Amino acid sequence: MFSLASRSLRLSVAGCQASRCSLATVISGSKTSKLVRERLKNDVEKMRNQFSGFRPGLVVLQVGDRDDSNLYISSKLKAAAEIGIEAKHIRLPSSATQEEVLQSVMAVNQNPAVHGLIVQLPLDSAHKMDTDLITNTVSSDKDVDGLSCINAGKLSRGDLSDCFIPCTPNGCMELIRQTGVSVAGKHAVVIGRSKIVGAPMRDLLLWRHATVTTCHSKTQDLPEQVGRADILVVGAGRAEMVRGEWLKVGAVVIDCGINHLPDETKASGKRVVGDVHYASANQRAGFLTPVPGGVGPMTVAMLMENTVQSAQRFLLRSQSLR
Ligand code: GUN
Repeated sequence: MFSLASRSLRLSVAGCQASRCSLATVISGSKTSKLVRERLKNDVEKMRNQFSGFRPGLVVLQVGDRDDSNLYISSKLKAAAEIGIEAKHIRLPSSATQEEVLQSVMAVNQNPAVHGLIVQLPLDSAHKMDTDLITNTVSSDKDVDGLSCINAGKLSRGDLSDCFIPCTPNGCMELIRQTGVSVAGKHAVVIGRSKIVGAPMRDLLLWRHATVTTCHSKTQDLPEQVGRADILVVGAGRAEMVRGEWLKVGAVVIDCGINHLPDETKASGKRVVGDVHYASANQRAGFLTPVPGGVGPMTVAMLMENTVQSAQRFLLRSQSLR
């Protein structure tokens, strides 16, 4: 007869075999993004030496004053300054009309010193705004967010070398690369179909030769779909929605969520969590991104990468015109 203690030990060992004993390997976006930013700093330095003080130029256009947008924009401006990108923050009040926003976008389109323009989303406006019209007004060769129909269309057709890839999915691909797990032939599941994360993520994985399932709010059997994923990317915008028990053992799990849950133990009264329940996912995943410190810093690094790439394309075009 077993004592209660040894019985529970036997049960936990059995549970361990059915799931996993070791924890997931953490994929650090903070570390990877630092390497990307250092590489870009060198690239910009070379450009400056070769083209008499030339610097890539980036504009971040903000409508209104959302706290989360203010935070994201300040990390973009800080990263740009460190790399040597000339970054400018244009702030329009929430009272600005759609026409005024469009005029601002078109003025930046005309400025040859600016190689990248993003309109920070969501717009914080007192007026009804057509976000698609605004993002489509950004010149496709400055659209470093990759949100215009031209860039999104190229990506969806697999013309990856001829477009700007949206920053969050591009960062996710970089993190997947870090794991050493090859994407080709794998079953990838993307949760979410937004223009900024889910849809371009699906396209990227597809053109890197994964078999892709896209899940969304109407998907009926989400845990079952998730359980088939060798690679899972979650951009659902719902705190801790994906449970560890749903995962295939050893899966690569990339969490794009940034959500806040009430937490009285924190001075702020809240804590940041992803769309994946971290503690339970850690028991089954092979690789897992933390929140914070996972996808977030990679989004910023990829914006810098796209801006430097846009400046390089600009220099090539200018040279070929000579
Ligand atoms: N809001 C949250 N993430 C992003 C992003 O990557 N680009 C823009 N323009 N807005 C955002």
